[in-house]
Amino acid sequence: MLLEIRNLSVEVQGKEMLHNINLEIDYGETHVLFGKNGSGKTSLLMTIMGMSGYKITKGNIFFKGEDISNLSINERARMGIGMSFQRPPTISGVKTRDLVQIINNNGKNTENIAKRLNVSEFLDRDVNLGFSGGEIKKSELLQLVSQNSDLVLLDEPESGVDIENIKVIGNVIKNLLQKHLRRQRVRAGLVITHTGLILNYLEADKGHILLNGRMRCEGNPREIFQTIQKFGYEECVRCQR
Ligand SMILES: Nc1ncnc2c1ncn2[C@@H]1O[C@H](COP(=O)(O)OP(=O)(O)O)[C@@H](O)[C@H]1O
Ligand SMILES: [Mg+2]
Repeated sequence: MLLEIRNLSVEVQGKEMLHNINLEIDYGETHVLFGKNGSGKTSLLMTIMGMSGYKITKGNIFFKGEDISNLSINERARMGIGMSFQRPPTISGVKTRDLVQIINNNGKNTENIAKRLNVSEFLDRDVNLGFSGGEIKKSELLQLVSQNSDLVLLDEPESGVDIENIKVIGNVIKNLLQKHLRRQRVRAGLVITHTGLILNYLEADKGHILLNGRMRCEGNPREIFQTIQKFGYEECVRCQR
């Protein structure tokens, strides 16, 4: 297993937000996380990444066989976990180019990756300063591709992005998580989506529903999404897949 979460409970500001979560993601797999607003999806990704403020009260997170529950965010990043945030901060005074060059672990130069994402003109601007919603998402993806992580956590990569740019973002994510390449792909992904649009670009292996901080069911991601669209989250959980 690349990522193994065992009986994980997490407290945010003194309140338990995630209860007894179990999740396994193998090398090369793409998993999709569905769930209503406020159900704890972002909290789960933040906890895997090791962001401060998300306190593990029970259980463990293993990555590449090692218990990372007490490791710092930078240690986890170095081990190969990367995240694109739902709402990343603005960093005034830091040029996007400088940030991307520092984290670049890709072997390709920053300009090439930026060109593919159509964000070359943002490289000389401060990180996220005055960026539109869609531009922020592209900038996040630029950083993630540069990091070349083995596990990529994508928190609503397509939210607030127009149709044309969803195509650009979708194709970059597709490339990032593509299977069936000549050399076996180790990289895995955990993707949160509300709109489901990103599913068109993923060869997703498994879908999970998180409701009120609990993992409720798992199955074929496209089927789960169709059921949610037709009948809502609760109904999907009721069928107890
Ligand atoms: N830093 C925080 N301080 C207080 N409450 C938080 C914090 N982070 C998350 N929460 C709360 O935890 C719950 C789950 O949030 P979140 O993980 O963002 O859900 P989702 O991503 O599924 O919409 C929400 O009710 C949210 O308000
Ligand atoms: Mg969220």
